[in-house]
Amino acid sequence: MKIMKVKNYDEMSDAAFQVMKEVVSENPNAVLGLATGSTPIGLYERMVKDYQEHHTNYAKCQSFNLDEYIGLAQGHEQSYFTFMQKHLFKHINMPKEHIHIPYGNSEVDCQAYEKALDQVQVDIQVLGIGSNGHIGFNEPNTPFTKETHIVNLMKKTRQDNARFFENDIDQVPKQAITMGIASIMKAKKIVLLASGEHKADAIATMVYGTKDPICPATVLQDHDDVIVIVDEAAASKL
Ligand code: PGA
Repeated sequence: MKIMKVKNYDEMSDAAFQVMKEVVSENPNAVLGLATGSTPIGLYERMVKDYQEHHTNYAKCQSFNLDEYIGLAQGHEQSYFTFMQKHLFKHINMPKEHIHIPYGNSEVDCQAYEKALDQVQVDIQVLGIGSNGHIGFNEPNTPFTKETHIVNLMKKTRQDNARFFENDIDQVPKQAITMGIASIMKAKKIVLLASGEHKADAIATMVYGTKDPICPATVLQDHDDVIVIVDEAAASKL
C-alpha cells in the first residue's frame, strides 16, 4: 500500500487525476472503476477540464460504478446514475453503452452486474472510504468473499449521507446494490482517496489495523497495487 500525503482536497484531486490520466493515456481501452460521493468530485472536475482542453479520448473506455441506492429512480436527483451524468459522463465522450452502473434490487440484478464485470478487468478502481471503513457500500462485517450484492445501509452511513437529502435521514434509502469486496479486489490498480478529519480514524485502521471485515478497507492491505491519497486532515492519525 503506497501512501501519498498531500495538503488538502485540491491536491488530493490533482494527484488522483495524474494517476487516472496516466492509465487512460497508456491504454485507450481502459476500464475505469468509478465511485460517487463528495470525495471524487474534484477528480471528475479535472477529467472534464482535461477533456475539454486536451481532447483525451474516452471513446473506447468503459466504466463500472461501485454502487447505487435502492428505491430511487435512476433519474432521481440523488441517484448515483444522476451524480455520474452530472459530474462526468455528460461532459466526456464515453459512449452510453460503455457505462455500467449497478441498478436493481434482486439477486438476478446482482448476478447480471457481476457477469458484466467478469468480462473485463478494471484497470483503475477509484475508491472513497466511509467514516466506518466501508468501501463501496460494503459495510463493516461484510465477508471479503462477497461479489455484487444487496446491502442494508448502516445508520452511520445514512447519517453521513443525509446532507444530500435535506439533512433528513428518513429520506436516505435504507438499501443499496454494491460491488462486493471480492469484485473490488480484482482491479489491477486501486486509488483510494480521503479528505477531512472525519476520515482519519478509518484511514489509520485501514493502514495499521488487523485485516478484518470489521473495517472493510483493511482488505486492501492484501492488494499489490494500491495508492492511498490522503490530505493532512485524513492523514492526521497516521
Ligand atoms: P464521501 O463518501 O466521499 O461522500 O465522503 C465516501 C464513501 O462513503 O465511500
